[in-house]
Amino acid sequence: MAAAPAPAAATTMAAAPAPAAATTTAAAEPAKAQAGGAVPALYLQVCQACHASGVAGAPKLGDKAAWAPRLALGVDGLTAVAIKGLNAMPPRGGSTASDAEIKAVVTYMVSQAK
Ligand code: HEC
Repeated sequence: MAAAPAPAAATTMAAAPAPAAATTTAAAEPAKAQAGGAVPALYLQVCQACHASGVAGAPKLGDKAAWAPRLALGVDGLTAVAIKGLNAMPPRGGSTASDAEIKAVVTYMVSQAK
């Protein structure tokens, strides 16, 4: 229920290679991370560094098998883990993001794992 299907515009943005210009745009609009449907800026800036390719054993975005056992924690439980850190996962992914921003990314990650 958490995630509405991403609108076409968001999908197009996500699919495009994201060089510096895209990152700058994302950084300028952190409020979008709360929106739910779009890819959160924080994910693009921080989390995808590990979660796009599975660095250090990170569960990859959209990898249902990797996420299945973790989904039992729910969005709130996974958010708590992401804030605290877990093994090679640094607290808040090494960022200074707020709890709400972390939760927005976890909500997005969970929506991609279902
Ligand atoms: C430096 C690499 C790295 C970055 C950056 C990173 N992660 Fe992770 N993440 C990991 C690894 C590795 C794991 C798997 C940890 C394990 O299960 O031992 C993980 C696991 C997780 C999990 C699952 C936790 C669980 O209980 O199974 C969540 C949720 C998560 N990360 C969210 C995030 C979010 C949100 C961000 C960005 C703010 C982020 N990660 C950034 C490496 C990273």
